[in-house]
Amino acid sequence: MKPSFAALTALLISSIPLPGATTVKKSDFGKMPDGTPVALYTLTSSTGLEARIITYGGILVSLKTPDRKGVAADVVLGHDDLAGYLGDKGTYFGALIGRYANRIGHAAFTLNGAAYKLPKNDGDNSLHGGTMGFDKRVWTAKEVPGGLELTLLSKDGEEGYPGNLKAVVTYSLNGNNLQIHYTATTDKATVVNLTNHSYWNLKGDGDILGNLLTINSDRYTPVDAGLIPTGELKPVAGTPFDFRKPTAVGARIAQDDAQLKLGHGYDHNWVLNRTGKGLELAARVEDTASGRVMEVYTDQPGVQFYTGNFLNGTVKGKGGKLAAIHSALCLETQHYPDTPNKKSFPTAELKPGEKYDTTTEFRFSVK
Ligand code: GLA
Repeated sequence: MKPSFAALTALLISSIPLPGATTVKKSDFGKMPDGTPVALYTLTSSTGLEARIITYGGILVSLKTPDRKGVAADVVLGHDDLAGYLGDKGTYFGALIGRYANRIGHAAFTLNGAAYKLPKNDGDNSLHGGTMGFDKRVWTAKEVPGGLELTLLSKDGEEGYPGNLKAVVTYSLNGNNLQIHYTATTDKATVVNLTNHSYWNLKGDGDILGNLLTINSDRYTPVDAGLIPTGELKPVAGTPFDFRKPTAVGARIAQDDAQLKLGHGYDHNWVLNRTGKGLELAARVEDTASGRVMEVYTDQPGVQFYTGNFLNGTVKGKGGKLAAIHSALCLETQHYPDTPNKKSFPTAELKPGEKYDTTTEFRFSVK
């Protein structure tokens, strides 16, 4: 029997990729020590942007995007396999960070009169959710149109935080745009600050000191010796923290500046200039050698700009290559560090019945 014209047309239409359609492919990425399988999802956009994400830590293990000649490179640091990620001591390469990204001073806070104690995993402070943060958990994955939805249940009291928290993070690609959408709900008042800890190197190799960086911010939060904000919102004008105009990352990094010394380079939170509630430009990075440009849009109040100061050539990255200092930069959109102890900072509290709902986009182009 001859197929009907309608059937042929339907077949033809279904085989044409829709504009903006992203494909998702699942494969195996190994097993956790307790036997839990870890999956790798490859997202490919209609324009060829490719993101690979694993269910362990919700880690973005690779992001491939072309240079001005059309040659694609992987622009994030990471490891070759699951063993590499499991053995990693503290880089947080590409991971989803929670329940509270960045530092909480003295690993303690009070909320509505109740005192909470957190694990001290960074001197006297708690960093990136504690010893068993969201970056070290296996998330439940579900393919959704355009991307991948990851779900995690964090129990009441886990890593010291109150409330059963359900976090749902969706990675999706739309053309040259990688979007990360974070939501969370709780059954008890708690604090939440979720981010992604990708280490970007738009050249795909070498150091990032020549990258031109712009940060849409007039002020930053200076820190003490433990990298806890002092509470001051300090104007960037006249300091090496002024990135309001495109400036090479390395141009002032070695200057005799007390804050740069405390951070061993840049490891600070910028107070983003915001006009409304939606997505606004936070930062832009341009690698003049390859022509790759990345713009970071967010609805969050801050961004941690970190120049990989703790990479000291001892962590084995992809292809067995040792990750050197300044071989990548992080732009972690976030609430300001130590917000639970700083009444003057925009609140990071989430109450039962409320929804934590935030979005960050990484938009790629060439120049
Ligand atoms: C964040 C912190 C840094 C460092 C890295 C992970 O960016 O601000 O101090 O801990 O994470 O190594």
